[in-house]
Formats: sequence, C-alpha cells, structure tokens
Amino acid sequence: MPGTFKVGLLGHGTVGAAFARLLRERADAIVPITGMRPELAGVLTRSQGSFDELLEHSDLVVELMGGIEPARDYVLRAMRAGKHVVSANKQLLSQHGEELWACAREHGVQLRFEGAVAGVVPVIRVLQESLAAARVERVHGIVNGTTNYILSEMARGGLSYEAALAQAQQLGYAEADPTDDVTGRDAAAKMAIVARLAFSTPVHLDQVVYEGIEHITADDIAYARELGLSLKLVGTAERVDAGISVRVHPVFLYGGHPLASVEGPFNAVTVESDAITEVTLSGPGAGGPQTASAVLGDVVSAMIPPASTPATTEALPVVNEIESAFYLYMEVADRPGVLAQVAELLGMQGASIRSVVQKGLGENARLVLILHPLPESRFYAAVRLIGQLDFIRSAPRAIRVIDEEFT
Ligand SMILES: NC(=O)c1ccc[n+]([C@@H]2O[C@H](COP(=O)([O-])OP(=O)(O)OC[C@H]3O[C@@H](n4cnc5c(N)ncnc54)[C@H](OP(=O)(O)O)[C@@H]3O)[C@@H](O)[C@H]2O)c1
Repeated sequence: MPGTFKVGLLGHGTVGAAFARLLRERADAIVPITGMRPELAGVLTRSQGSFDELLEHSDLVVELMGGIEPARDYVLRAMRAGKHVVSANKQLLSQHGEELWACAREHGVQLRFEGAVAGVVPVIRVLQESLAAARVERVHGIVNGTTNYILSEMARGGLSYEAALAQAQQLGYAEADPTDDVTGRDAAAKMAIVARLAFSTPVHLDQVVYEGIEHITADDIAYARELGLSLKLVGTAERVDAGISVRVHPVFLYGGHPLASVEGPFNAVTVESDAITEVTLSGPGAGGPQTASAVLGDVVSAMIPPASTPATTEALPVVNEIESAFYLYMEVADRPGVLAQVAELLGMQGASIRSVVQKGLGENARLVLILHPLPESRFYAAVRLIGQLDFIRSAPRAIRVIDEEFT
C-alpha cells in the first residue's frame, strides 16, 4: 500500500478547481512514478478553510490564489515550516522572487513555478535543467495568449483591435478586465522570471519596459503583410554590451522567425545560445486545465528529487538603450520630396531604410518604411522631427521589427 502525500491547496478558482480535479484523476498514475499517492489535504478560499490547519496537514502547498498578499505570506510560512511549494503566481514571483527563492534555499525546500510562465509549455524546466549548461544569449517569447489571439484575429479577419478584443472576451480568451494582458504587464512579469533564470541575475518586474497592443491598427498589420511581416507581442530578454535588456512590445517578425507562425491563444518561447543555436517550445499558454497540468507536473517533480532555484551569480545591469529595427507608418500629403525629407531626417540619426511602401494620392497618402537596426533613442529623435514636418497628417506610428530569421 503506497503512502499518501498530502497537498494543501490555496485557491479554488479557474486553475485551483482544475488542479483539484486533475489531482483526483491522475493520482493512481502518479503512484508508480513517486511511490506515493497524492491527495488533497484541504482547500483554502476566502470563504472556507484555515491556513494554519491546512499547513499542519500538508506535505506540500499549492498556491493558486494570485495577487501579492496574502499569497506571499502564506508561501513564506509554508517554506519556513519545511513544506515544498508550487505556485503559478507570476506577479508574486516577478516582484518577490529573490526573497522567496532565498527562503526556499535556506529551508531546503522546493519552490516550483512552471505554471507561472507560458502555461503548460515547459519553459522554466528547460531553462533551469535542460539548458543549465548553455550560456543563453537571448530569449524571445510570445507569453500572453490573449494578445496573440487578438493580433491573430486582426491579421486573419482584418478586425479592429476593439472587435478582436470583444471576440476574445466572448470566447473566454480574455478577462472582463483585460488591462494586464493588453498593456503588456502580464507578459512583462513572465519575462522578468525568464530573464532571472536565463541570466542568473536579479530582475524585478519594475525593471521591465513594456508596451501593449491597444494602439495597433488593422492598417499596420495589412501594410506590413505586404512586406512579409507578421505582428506579435513579444517579450525579449537578452545580453547587451552593458548588461541585459528585458522588454515587451509589439514587434514585426519576418516569416522565417520561429515565432512568426504562432497563432491564436498559443504561447511560444525561443531560446538562443551559441552552443545550441535556437530551441523553440510552444503550446497552449493559459487556461485552467492547461495550467493545472503544469502545476501537477511540478507537484510530481517535488515528490521525487530535491531542486531549488540557485542564488543569483551575476549582478548584471538591466539597461534600456538598445538597438532595434523599426517599422514606421506615416500619413502624409503626397507631394514631391516627401520621402527624401523623411529619409534625410532618418539619415541624420544614422538610420538606413530597408524597404518602402507608398500608397494613395493627395492628402491621404501613406508612407511605410522598414529601417535597419539603430539605437532606439536616435530613432525616436528622428521620429520627433519627422512629426513636425508640414506634410505629416497624424503622429507617425512606430513598431519594432525583429529582423532575424532562422532558416
Ligand atoms: N487562469 C489562468 O489561465 C492562469 C494561467 C496561468 C497562471 N495563472 C495564475 O494562477 C493563479 C490563480 O489564477 P485563477 O485564474 O485560478 O484565479 P481565480 O479564478 O480568481 O481564483 C482565485 C482563487 O483564490 C482564492 N483567493 C483569492 N484571494 C484569497 C485570499 N485572500 N484568501 C483566500 N483565498 C483567496 C479565491 O477565493 P474565492 O473563491 O473565495 O474568491 C479563488 O478561489 C494566479 O496567480 C494566476 O496568475 C492563471
């Protein structure tokens, strides 16, 4: 008769309820892997359960409440009591990760968090274990399924941002309040965690520069399509000369990039390193059953060998001045010399043009440029001057372009 392994569950919402169900369904299958049968010790919500009682009767605590407090306090108390913890709480880990990981190391317990980044896609495990020996140069991730769904629908059906968001809400891919998703904050929290693991350096959510998709128009997507580009909300964590850069913003990708074909509510993460070239992981990014599966995977791992997030070994500065290629969309009066004047202002900042699309006549012409990489501050200096030219009809729109392709 196998022994039992008691799991205390904090939170019984979308993910918590799916986890409780999955634990019951999969308990028998877990016995041969771990030699023990996992069972719920009890559940805590706002209206039921006592944390102290739950802690006393649990071998491991699963935190699926979300938010910072009391989640932080409960996770710390569980680890101080010698219990392993599994959490899917990206906000908590991206803001208090160092405190929590230090506590786990100090008390010799595991804090696992695969469900916090990209749902069931095993990004955390791969960075911590499979690629532990690689010197990661860069990680690009589509780590928010809601925004990827919205952008995919805008590209596929020519929908406006508002219509695509309403459709995502109807289908349950977006919350009633989608702010964290569409502003890029949710993806920023995930990228802070990814960067911490990829570069062994502390990264806080506040250091991640992020920009959302609210200002994207169907026009941007249609024009760029003609140039072979597709638009994604991409998180990037990379080594740069002065340290590391961690950021989230909409970017255009050429067709050969592994993230270019990721459509709908899917997530994907590409890890680049000299030794391994490029590894891409993809799959469903969120949802109760999917995240619950990642959480249960962590519980099974915690039931077997010890593992902990090592202390940081680097103190790399997180810098914001980086180089990027850009898409620049301008509404212009169609007069002779327009392109030349724009090109001159760009040239003064060291920008060179990779491709051009011009459409329309008279007062309603459109001029779309793709620029080769240049320092972002120089690009924006040029855009400010371009915005003051008398033939410019509305504020120019700029979106970054990732111009790498893997073939
Ligand atoms: N939903 C997803 O697809 C997804 C994907 C990846 C990661 N996550 C993460 O998973 C976590 C849970 O998300 P969710 O979507 O399942 O949230 P949810 O549906 O809002 O459920 C939250 C649960 O936590 C309980 N709770 C909240 N505050 C509490 C408190 N102060 N004391 C006791 N219980 C409390 C709630 O209790 P009541 O029932 O009493 O309100 C509810 O049962 C979050 O960290 C989220 O970021 C979610």
